[in-house]
Amino acid sequence: MISRRFSRIQTELPGPKSAAIFSAKERYVASPLTTYAPFIVKKSKGAIVEDVDGNTFLDFSGGWGCLNVGQCNTRVVAALKDQIDQYLHTDFTAVPYQPMIELSQLLCERVPGSWAKKAAFFNSGAEAVENAVKLARTYTKRKAVLVFENAFHGRTLLTMTMTHKAKPYKYGFGPFVSDVYRLPYPNLYRSAIEETDIERALLAMVDPSEVAVMVVEPIIGEGGFLVPPQWFLPAMRRLADRYGFVLAFDEIQSGIGRTGKFFAYEHFDVSPDLICVAKSLGSGLPLSGVVGKAEIMDSPVDGGIGGTYVGNPLACRAAIEVIKLFNETDLLERATHVGERIKQRFNLLKQRYDIVGDVRGLGAMMAMELVKNRETKDPAPEETTKITKEALYSGAIFPTAGLCGNVIRVLTSLVITDEQIDEGMDILAEAFEKLVG
Ligand SMILES: Cc1ncc(COP(=O)(O)O)c(C=O)c1O
Repeated sequence: MISRRFSRIQTELPGPKSAAIFSAKERYVASPLTTYAPFIVKKSKGAIVEDVDGNTFLDFSGGWGCLNVGQCNTRVVAALKDQIDQYLHTDFTAVPYQPMIELSQLLCERVPGSWAKKAAFFNSGAEAVENAVKLARTYTKRKAVLVFENAFHGRTLLTMTMTHKAKPYKYGFGPFVSDVYRLPYPNLYRSAIEETDIERALLAMVDPSEVAVMVVEPIIGEGGFLVPPQWFLPAMRRLADRYGFVLAFDEIQSGIGRTGKFFAYEHFDVSPDLICVAKSLGSGLPLSGVVGKAEIMDSPVDGGIGGTYVGNPLACRAAIEVIKLFNETDLLERATHVGERIKQRFNLLKQRYDIVGDVRGLGAMMAMELVKNRETKDPAPEETTKITKEALYSGAIFPTAGLCGNVIRVLTSLVITDEQIDEGMDILAEAFEKLVG
């Protein structure tokens, strides 16, 4: 029996109030915007979500990784309230404002290395990736883009081309962008590759003198939380230097402290040219950015990058508090602790159930891969869906990931307490016992 202090399911799911709102959704909201949770949120704080029917859930999804400092963090909310009383929007290029300049400085200062850095802000993660490509193209005066297997970079025309998973992200949306080339990404659980395999694949597809940029997730996110071996990112740096292209890290999911370092790449002996950030930078406000070498950031003509809402003052005020929280508190250590506690419980599940093929991750970016058979490693997506659904209906929200949808991952806020982690893990363990025990 789980002792429950935080999760409470007191109605059918969806409860009556949620059900009424869902019927309006069916009628008026475009169907492809499918929803995961069978309830409508009323309020949320830290890592707890309450629905309109009074049910409460432990949230390991963190708004798909946007809430590292916790839902409605007190400092973030206070800054937003203060900003609302001053001004909401001017467009920085029409009437500039201080918060965007302060945020640029704070973000640049978080990037290790003594080289000159600059930042620019956008709205979504996809926009940040698009702009990293634009910056690299103007800087190198070349066109080709290198990406990796298992990558997810967004849903715009360019970024869905760069994304690996066909369905749902690309299905029916072609034709795609030209000059995007996909390289193998090391998968320590499934297929060991070497540096030479990647260079060989590159040279077979495109002349490297035509490559503007390599965009790589330091840890693969949507594609299944793949942590590369230590050699991988430094080897990509060497390729970029050898062939003169820009090395851009997509830290949209792995960054802003999730792995126990501010940027996930800081776990490796490497330095990029550009870094894309989003998600937890804005703590729920739509904000993304590119930060990196000043000469690359400055390379387009005036007005060449931007957009009406980019670096919106409210989002910047939220992000300033987010970075200050990392500068002033022990959130990075907390990420490591949260990850360790979850990893212990995931490993117990692995010991107990053959369906758990692999437990992996860095810091609080933790996941387990489910397989039908440990020898053949056949993915187990149906079982993954059943287990996460069982946990969800029992009060804990766990996202899935992976090209085959057979990875259970954790994107919880880092302020989740030990007791909350334990209760969530008890709920997940009960779902395993019920379905595969
Ligand atoms: C690594 C990575 N890049 C880019 C994106 C796209 O971000 P957005 O959905 O804000 O466009 C995501 C979103 O999940 C992501 O995880």
